[in-house]
Amino acid sequence: MVDNWLKEYINNIEKQIEIYFPEINDCGYKTVSDASRYSLTLGGKRIRPIILLEFCRMLGGDIKKAAPFAVALEMIHTYSLIHDDLPCMDNDDMRRGKPSCHIKYGEDTALLAGDTLLTEAFGVLSKAELPPERVVKAVEYLSSLSGLHGMIGGQVLDLSFEKITPTADQLIDMYSRKTGGLLIAAATLGCIAAGMLDQNTIENAKNYANNLGLAFQIIDDILDCTADQNLLGKPVGSDEKNNKTTFVTIYGIDKSRQIAKQYTDNAMECLSTFSGDKTRLTELTEYLLKRNY
Ligand code: IPE
Ligand code: IPE
Ligand code: MG
Ligand code: MG
Ligand code: MG
Repeated sequence: MVDNWLKEYINNIEKQIEIYFPEINDCGYKTVSDASRYSLTLGGKRIRPIILLEFCRMLGGDIKKAAPFAVALEMIHTYSLIHDDLPCMDNDDMRRGKPSCHIKYGEDTALLAGDTLLTEAFGVLSKAELPPERVVKAVEYLSSLSGLHGMIGGQVLDLSFEKITPTADQLIDMYSRKTGGLLIAAATLGCIAAGMLDQNTIENAKNYANNLGLAFQIIDDILDCTADQNLLGKPVGSDEKNNKTTFVTIYGIDKSRQIAKQYTDNAMECLSTFSGDKTRLTELTEYLLKRNY
């Protein structure tokens, strides 16, 4: 990825994962813990925890204290990927450069590994040594943005669009939920960790992350057609195989790139409203538009 600061963040997040979701001792259900950690511990760009920690830092918060929020969010994201790859969903065999969780451990264990990460994430969140009202706010935001009206609702719409062709507005609404949801959680939990709970800050953070999420998913759709599979770490051509309607099927690759650029510009504009040091978030936002994996 772009720079040393990102590598440093990734190393730190991976250390925190070991602290908050360590390997367990031998027991009758160790396999499901191993399967959860298999998907969680290696690979992944970690952009959601990075955004969360950077929002916290930009707003004057203590990123050490925000670590449980960051780990919890990455656990929820990883659960969404494990379930997304299952045969009943996108049916993909590869994730983060390795066999998908269900290929390695079987469907039953992969399903329960996803459930484990989802459930344990809220326990990890509760360990944050922050004022209780911030932790409660984080629970509220993380559950709603990853839940029925957020990521899960988006995934339901995504599957339904294999059978019906959505309008562009319906597609945007679906992306705002399935991908925007967890990115909005990243930005807003960063604000919450820093104690910035005022409406203005939260709204700006939401707006930034929604625009970033739209750009991110459009690039994901483009990479699904154009990327080098080994670099991408997941199958290329998954959307076509599943007959998904995406930005690429509606607009083609060039126009989709232009639209992703427009959403990135919108995100940059939202960033400019924050008064703290936004150099890193600016760099990351630009990088995510140009990424090739
Ligand atoms: C993949 O997210 C799922 C989408 C929302 C497109 P990422 O591209 O962030 O996946 P990892 O975490 O780097 O594996
Ligand atoms: C991912 O959308 C959305 C999730 C919430 C997991 P995709 O199905 O396009 O993600 P990839 O391409 O498999 O990572
Ligand atoms: Mg999917
Ligand atoms: Mg998928
Ligand atoms: Mg995709």
